[in-house]
Amino acid sequence: MPAESLDQVVSLCKRRGFIFPGSEIYGGLANSWDYGPLGAVLKNSIRDWWVERFVTKRQDMVLIDPAIIMNPKVWEASGHVENFNDAMIDCKECKGRFRADHLIEDKYEDLKVDGKSPEELTEIIAEKKIPCPRCGKKESFTNARVFNLLFRTPLGVTEGEDQRDVYLRGEIAQGMFVNFRNILQTSRKRLPFGIASLGKAFRNEITPGNFIFRTLEFDLMEFEYFIREQDWEKQFDYWLKEEQNWLKEMGIDKKKLRVREHTKDELSHYSTKTADVEYETPFGWKELFGLAYRGDFDLKNHMEQSKQDLQYTDPDTNEKFIPHVIEPTFGLSRLTLIILLDAYNEEKLENGESRTVMKFNPRLAPVQVAILPLSKDERLIKKAQEIYELLNEKTNLRLDIDVTGSIGKRYRRQDEIGTPTCITVDFGTIGDDENQCKKDHVTVRDRDSLDQQEIAVESLPEKLAL
Ligand code: GAP
Repeated sequence: MPAESLDQVVSLCKRRGFIFPGSEIYGGLANSWDYGPLGAVLKNSIRDWWVERFVTKRQDMVLIDPAIIMNPKVWEASGHVENFNDAMIDCKECKGRFRADHLIEDKYEDLKVDGKSPEELTEIIAEKKIPCPRCGKKESFTNARVFNLLFRTPLGVTEGEDQRDVYLRGEIAQGMFVNFRNILQTSRKRLPFGIASLGKAFRNEITPGNFIFRTLEFDLMEFEYFIREQDWEKQFDYWLKEEQNWLKEMGIDKKKLRVREHTKDELSHYSTKTADVEYETPFGWKELFGLAYRGDFDLKNHMEQSKQDLQYTDPDTNEKFIPHVIEPTFGLSRLTLIILLDAYNEEKLENGESRTVMKFNPRLAPVQVAILPLSKDERLIKKAQEIYELLNEKTNLRLDIDVTGSIGKRYRRQDEIGTPTCITVDFGTIGDDENQCKKDHVTVRDRDSLDQQEIAVESLPEKLAL
């Protein structure tokens, strides 16, 4: 059985050390989350796969790491200062503040209201008598007002005249556009080619929530793929397939995936066409990845505002032009949540017991092989340590030795953290019990099938390497 509610996954994440409430010892901070030992490894292994899949294994991609704080003129030229807005609405009764479009979409899932003006949203909320989700009161809302999502922060050590406001980046994309000329000059890439980048993005979301689904700071991975204008439809289709192909490679349930194209009203200020890859979460179908055709909007605006030449010169014909761009964007924090939700399973076993098991793709599992000595006997622990050293030297597997608790309890714990393979070292392994494993053999247990196989210790690296 998959997770029926988000709470099941939130609770497992806390219990096992994937994700904790942020600043918990001070009572937390709303919608702030810290990745624990297992969550940090999970998120980084998704990120590493993305870098390998979309950058290092391709000849047409480069990776950069631009600054989070940029000259504020960047955000003026990109249109974010003027257009990166959501409409918010307040409840006069309980003073709750909400995103006006979410109030409507949470009640009427099929009614897409992205792009509607604050006046239109106010009208829909009044007409449908949507109650305040916090206090339940109807017809208690103010008019909707626009609110800019960029995180503003003062720069400078002294207050007053020396100080000016800058923005924390609201998307990674702008770092790639402002470096376009540097990259052309240093990497000598020819069209089509992509610039990739990843890291934290910040948005002053009015209603964050659903665990790490929507937060104020989040990890984002995206690339700008520069093309000739006439190729945009072909490239758009190609990258939409590539986004879905990667999800399939990771083993995400394809019945829970769908593609939804944005209506004209929903399009971001920079986009001519956008499609989202959505996932069916316990709280409805939600955007996981986006894909936008940004045309030449960004390079053209930066060229106009900075007065710098950001054109591409065709090396064969010397033709000069501003390339167009397709932007596949992957929310890493959101993908981490979807991978947790998709992996979650509650199963009844043949012996009547039940287990919770995280069926992560082995490549993503925070622990890939756990070595379990049958008891705390020092000889078994020593043998387990030798096996750990052997696998550590001969493979790149993420390993753990788990000693505490009964073997059954340890299997349950490893299932809950999604460890694909457990190795049990028993008295047979050390040649001390003919009724257990053969000497120098161990029992290897598969997380999903629960099959158990006796394998010679010396062949473990070859058998288990991913
Ligand atoms: N450069 C394009 C861009 O930023 P976006 O659709 O606004 O596009 C990209 O965001 C992705 O970032 C989304 O598809 C989603 O996965 C993720 N995302 C957006 N806002 C988020 C938030 N507040 N918290 C977590 N993830 C978010």
